[in-house]
Amino acid sequence: MSIKETPWDAAAFGIPTFEISALSEENLGFASRTSGHYTIKVDPLADKKMLDAYGFYYCDTLIEPWCSLGRFRFYDCADCRVSKETGLEALLGICHGAFSHGRFHRDFNLSPELADRRYDNWLASLYREGNVLGLYHDETLAGFVAYSGSRLVLHAIDETYRGRGYGKYLWSAACRVIFDRGAPEITSSISASNLAVLNLYASLGFGFRNAVDVYHLWVK
Ligand SMILES: CC(C)(COP(=O)(O)OP(=O)(O)OC[C@H]1O[C@@H](n2cnc3c(N)ncnc32)[C@H](O)[C@@H]1OP(=O)(O)O)[C@@H](O)C(=O)NCCC(=O)NCCS
Repeated sequence: MSIKETPWDAAAFGIPTFEISALSEENLGFASRTSGHYTIKVDPLADKKMLDAYGFYYCDTLIEPWCSLGRFRFYDCADCRVSKETGLEALLGICHGAFSHGRFHRDFNLSPELADRRYDNWLASLYREGNVLGLYHDETLAGFVAYSGSRLVLHAIDETYRGRGYGKYLWSAACRVIFDRGAPEITSSISASNLAVLNLYASLGFGFRNAVDVYHLWVK
């Protein structure tokens, strides 16, 4: 069976949580008989009948933005910079409530407050690993980018700065740090429904690949 526990989600939601890595009768059958919250990511063109038969429901489509140094379009801004010296509380102030496009917020079975907690916990853990860049406009903390290797895993711009065109300048500064560490390519994972972040990546020269449909099941 290809089912593994996701303890970070269990800690946020207070229920057993699992990720299923292969679409099979054995895996889905086990999940449907065993209490917990399940995630499965499938090829968008896969046959979904089996998922439907076991009660799985659609939550999101994820896509992978990717960009090599050669195709990245840098937008320079004298007033924008990044720093690793930002306090966690200030970063959490931007993170909390920012991820309403995420699959946990879109899962009608889960409380949005606990979904917020999931992202807050994740940011805190990335912060402890030293993998969070604060994004500054002048002296103001305007956002953050958290990364794992060359993958941007969690990122947001403060509500007061959103939609004002700062994204490409702040992302350019953050991506420069990652490329300067020798990464040949930067990747991320975003919801196809999150048009602001999709347009942001497109404006920086990113391409998109590896779409997956995400299905959930909660067995009480
Ligand atoms: C995603 C996010 C970082 C983008 O930053 P932003 O400051 O809002 O984006 P910008 O104003 O720089 O705009 C970026 C592009 O998206 C477009 N855009 C902005 N808001 C949009 C919206 N609601 N719908 C569609 N396009 C939008 C802009 O026109 C711009 O495109 P352009 O360069 O072709 O003109 C920001 O909205 C955010 O923090 N959102 C909440 C957290 C989040 O969703 N993080 C990503 C999770 S994967």
